[in-house]
Parts: sequence; structure tokens; C-alpha cells
Amino acid sequence: MQVIIQPDTATAANLVARLVADTLKTKPASVIGLATGRTMEPVYERLIEFHRNDGLDFSKCRTFNLDEYAGVKADDFRSYRHTMQKLLFDHINIRPEATHLPDSMAADLNQACADYENKINAAGGVDLQLLGIGSNGHIGFNEPLSSFSSLTHVEFLTAATIRQNAGLCGGEDRVPRFALTMGVATILASRRALMLVTGAAKAELLANFIEGPVTSMITASALHWHRDCIIVADAAAAANLKNRAGYQFAFENNPAWAAYR
Ligand code: F6R
Repeated sequence: MQVIIQPDTATAANLVARLVADTLKTKPASVIGLATGRTMEPVYERLIEFHRNDGLDFSKCRTFNLDEYAGVKADDFRSYRHTMQKLLFDHINIRPEATHLPDSMAADLNQACADYENKINAAGGVDLQLLGIGSNGHIGFNEPLSSFSSLTHVEFLTAATIRQNAGLCGGEDRVPRFALTMGVATILASRRALMLVTGAAKAELLANFIEGPVTSMITASALHWHRDCIIVADAAAAANLKNRAGYQFAFENNPAWAAYR
């Protein structure tokens, strides 16, 4: 795991967007795993800018979102399909059929989850998986105590997640109770995982996850098992990390990061 601390949210989001852009430049047919949530919004803004101003090409890539609310139609403002169209897909040259989210309206949701996992594998697996972290430490919608071996599955959302997502759904009672989510093992199978964490509200959680023990109470801590995981945090989110100077030293001196400093 590598931890990169940036002075503010805009700089952190810019670095994440640049890493996505460089993945696409190196391998135009990349499979990119996408996340929703407020943290990702500035990343998608930057990617749209790269497309408009620098011609960043999405025409050959395929995307798989981490998750989708169960029983919510694509045109419902709460759906992640709707969110992704609005925040990214409608503004770039991606092929509509190359964008994937779990089928939240399927008659058999368990089958829809198995189909999603198969589709990811048939696409050759995820090259770069974008991640945020929930206030309870979830990745995707893998809530505390989710199995680290889980594949795409239906998850019952916790009260903490319902509270966290109330704002984007128009109130706590409008947040669906179930979601379809890539499992922890699906996320660990990605070739690279790239998490963005911003804001002081996540500082304690981030320190527990990065410098504390691996525990399914914080499903993000499973990322310590990932072979190539990068965590980008802004200074506010990184405030409680004890080894800040060490992470900074590595970022400033490792030639691998020269282009990003
Ligand atoms: C969304 C997702 C979630 C969010 C997390 C953080 O697709 O998978 O894990 O990344 O809940 O959400 P924000 O960014 O709104 O704090």
C-alpha cells in the first residue's frame, strides 16, 4: 500500500484523475472500476476537463461501477446509473454499452450479482478500481463484517450508511435498504486499487484503516491484502496518520512518482 498526502481536496482529486488518465493513455482498452459518492465528484470533473481540453479518449475503455441500489430504476435520481450519466458518461466519448452497473431491477438479484461478476471476468478483470471510503469504513457497499472472500452480492445497508447517503437521496427514508455491490474479493482482484479520501470527518477512520489492524469491522482494511493499492488523501483526512512524514518522504523521493509531484 502507498499513501500519498496532498495539501487540499482539489490537488488530491487532480492526482487521482491524472492516474486514471495515464492508465487510459497506456492502455486505451482499460477496464476501469468506478465509484459514486461525493468524494469522486471532483475526480469526474477533472476527467471531463481532460477529455475536453486534452482529448483524453474513453472510446475504447469499459467501466464497471462498484454498486447500485436495489429496486431503483435507471432514471430515478437516486440511482447510481443516473448519477454516473450526469457526472461523467454524458460528457465523455464512452460507448454507452461499455458502461456497466449491477442490474438493480432484475427479478432475481442474486443471479444479477453472479452475472455482474461473470461480466467483469469476461472483460478481463478490472485494471484500475476507484474507491471511496464510507463513514463506517465500507468499500463499495461492503458493510462492517462483510466477508473478505465476498464476490458481487446483495447487501443490507447499515444505519450509518443510510445516514451518510440521506443527503444524496432526499432524506433517510428515501435511501434504499438494499444494494448490489462488488464484494471485497472482487475489489481485491483488481490489478490496481486507487482510493481517494478527503475531509477532516474521515481523519480518525483513515488512521484506523491504514495504521490499525486488518479487521472486517473496517472492510477497507482488506486493502492491505491488495498487491497494488494507492491511497490518496488530502491533508485534512490525513491529519491523524502517525507516519505522515514517512509517506511524504516516499512520494517525494521515489522516482515512480516524479511526474506527479
Ligand atoms: C459508492 C461507494 C461507496 C462510497 C463511500 C464514500 O459507489 O462505493 O463506498 O465510495 O460511501 O462516499 P462519499 O464519497 O459520499 O463519502
